[in-house]
Amino acid sequence: MTHTIAVIRGDGIGPEISDASLRVLDALDAGLNYDFVDAGMTALEKHGELLPAATMAAIGKHRVALKGPLTTPVGEGFTSINVELRKRFDLYANLRPAITFPNTKARYDNIDLITVRENTEGAYGSEGQTLSPDGQQAQSLIRVSRRGSERIVRYAYDMARRLGRKKVTIVHKANIMKTTSGLFLSVARDIAKDYPEITSNEMIVDNCCMQLVMRPEQFDVIVTTNLFGDIISDLCAGLVGGLGLAPGANIGTDAAIFEAVHGSAPDIAGKGIANPCALLLGAGQMLEHIGMPDKATRLRQAIRDTMAARDRVTPDLGGTGSTSTFADAIIERVKNS
Ligand code: NAI
Ligand code: MG
Repeated sequence: MTHTIAVIRGDGIGPEISDASLRVLDALDAGLNYDFVDAGMTALEKHGELLPAATMAAIGKHRVALKGPLTTPVGEGFTSINVELRKRFDLYANLRPAITFPNTKARYDNIDLITVRENTEGAYGSEGQTLSPDGQQAQSLIRVSRRGSERIVRYAYDMARRLGRKKVTIVHKANIMKTTSGLFLSVARDIAKDYPEITSNEMIVDNCCMQLVMRPEQFDVIVTTNLFGDIISDLCAGLVGGLGLAPGANIGTDAAIFEAVHGSAPDIAGKGIANPCALLLGAGQMLEHIGMPDKATRLRQAIRDTMAARDRVTPDLGGTGSTSTFADAIIERVKNS
């Protein structure tokens, strides 16, 4: 079966890491066709807008997109493209796995966890944020719904079940934020009962941060609201060695978009030294999403083996290789697996 996916190569290092990632996907024989569309600065220069209708249409049609990092121009009148995509396609689940790979600067070698972050509500609504005219009082509205909480918690437990994960930790601050975090916690407790084979526990978010730093191996799947998930998943990326290895998936009912967590890295763009692994790991999440978990496993193993051998890896991992030599080394292993 062939799948067509929308590919946004992205800005800055985006084209370099996207091209490397597609070469690896081709070597996996995943049977993918690519529909290349533009967003970000590239789209602004070519088409006069950051997020052209044709790009939205392609994502809507193929329902799956691989996206390189985008530069949102600083200044008035531009809303974040990522926020816009999340809204338009109702991408309510943000999945950020954190796995330790060999030969990184990570402090631990035994982390394998996934943060499932609610991506559409919580403290992230733009409406309800006000500043009084005299600048002395600011307010913001946190909105949590039963439906929003149910679907993200259910997503986390279904995913845990599908991947054979053993434990889900519900992260909250219901002791203080009694209504918003309280509603999320009570919904999560109810849903947890439907998954008796999975161990469920609860943790207050500040304690969770400390536990992650002290004993990260106790975590398997974490499910939480928007802002807590944002912070915790960055913390986890730091635990496993930083941005070069952190992928993210944004999953909705209408579409799913897979990406690297890092940005367009203008400081190294065009030099051919960007690490392609974060986007590649995002491509691995995509393969799982479209029903090719075996290929995702082969991909991750090839990355792991390449890093273990320090074979042609990029400077951020202490190597002297380039984006394309790193990809070549991964491709050789993929082909032999
Ligand atoms: P950044 O993530 O682009 O870069 C931070 C640092 O990490 C830089 O020193 C960079 O060289 C390094 N780095 C990032 N990715 C790397 C890779 N694959 N290999 C090796 N080194 C890597 O963050 P920054 O500089 O704050 O943002 C740059 C631009 O990216 C901004 O326009 C920002 O809006 C955009 N951005 C886009 C995102 C997206 O599209 N998902 C996410 C974050 C930022
Ligand atoms: Mg963030």
